[in-house]
Amino acid sequence: MAKQRRELFKTKIGMLLACVGSAMGLANIWMFPARLGEFGGITFLIPYLFFLFGFSSFGLMGEYAFGRKMRKGPVIAFESVLAEKTNNPILKGIGWFPVAALIGILSFYTVIIGWILRYLVLALANSFPTMEEVFFSSFAGTPANIPWTLAAILVTALIVSLGIQKGIERFTTVMMATFYVVVMIMVIRALTLPNALHGVAAMLTPKWEALSHFRIWIYALGMAFFTLSLGGAAMLVYGSYMPEETDIPQTACQTAGLDLLASILCALFTIPAAFSLGINPQAGAALLFIAVPKIMTNMPAGYVFGALFFLCALFAALTSSIVMLEVPVESLISKFSLSRKKAALIISLLAACIAIPLNFDMNVFGTFTDTVAIIIFPLAAVTAGFLIFWVYGAQKALDNINLYAKHKIGRWYAPYMQYVFVPVCLLLVIAGIFLGGL
Ligand code: PFF
Repeated sequence: MAKQRRELFKTKIGMLLACVGSAMGLANIWMFPARLGEFGGITFLIPYLFFLFGFSSFGLMGEYAFGRKMRKGPVIAFESVLAEKTNNPILKGIGWFPVAALIGILSFYTVIIGWILRYLVLALANSFPTMEEVFFSSFAGTPANIPWTLAAILVTALIVSLGIQKGIERFTTVMMATFYVVVMIMVIRALTLPNALHGVAAMLTPKWEALSHFRIWIYALGMAFFTLSLGGAAMLVYGSYMPEETDIPQTACQTAGLDLLASILCALFTIPAAFSLGINPQAGAALLFIAVPKIMTNMPAGYVFGALFFLCALFAALTSSIVMLEVPVESLISKFSLSRKKAALIISLLAACIAIPLNFDMNVFGTFTDTVAIIIFPLAAVTAGFLIFWVYGAQKALDNINLYAKHKIGRWYAPYMQYVFVPVCLLLVIAGIFLGGL
């Protein structure tokens, strides 16, 4: 398998938007505005910006550069790094762990995409005004969502099976560009609602005492981590499709910057709209599936905006589910020389087998989601961080990062990643277990 045969991203913008698509997902839409509400608005940005740009974006550079260097996904890349150190087949197969973590995330993500699809159809049929508040609980956690979950898996699989340029790059570019344009229109609409600016003013007033809570720091760290998809697989695989001359520090900063922009735009829509209409902007599913339909019912032209909102949520989630499927597909292709279509079919069937039972009980869904997102995924990040910065070598990682960089990263990077980044990833796993926090 010659290196040159690997399909790479075709355009710089397509590459960037694919990476931003992976980063920008449900966490931006349903966690970020809620965290702002919970921790004193703009005050939350202090720890969040600190961790996003001072911490996780350096992990992101590591994943991108390691992927570009190895031109393989986690399974083969980690296997070859470990080949010189051990003969133990279980240790050498450690790359399957981040892949498995991602299949877990893919499975619960497709359940949520199923809900979004259902709500998009409801919005298009103008059903929100007559919808009862209990609709969500009568639908989510029941087999009624199974066809929608399967539709989500099917759409993701169709895009991934078309390949990197014709599938992933093309579709994520269209979806991300549409997302930004539509969300901006929605922000303008929300900000011009009566009283909306009071909501913004409340958000912009710092509440310094919030910074003394341990939770704000751990939540900000967890979110900065999850949003940049740092689990040693997704961004590594996208890195492996980056053209040789890619400026890695620049691409990582742009990914984090556009991801932040998406979060802020989502908050600038939900918070003022909710404030203006006297609705409490809640966290998680309650925001998307209970508060938003209420907002849309009470908002002038809510019919149009409801459909646009769920379209944006769909694009945000799909551009993430695409990379979640791509990672295991790449692993099967690289390890077993399967065709892309066959690999996509196998992983989709596996994801469906996990996702279908998650539709029967919201408690099972919640436990599964928390375990995978809060414990297993950061544990995969610790594993990958250890392998990249300790086994492969932080200095080599730095050399790769700086290879075509206009602004080079200093020599502090190597000890920082070894002695701060990897231990803090571990702290996140421990905090996740004790606090249940993200
Ligand atoms: N970054 C996505 C979000 O913010 O929701 C989640 C995610 C995407 C996690 C891709 C992991 C991943 F590989």
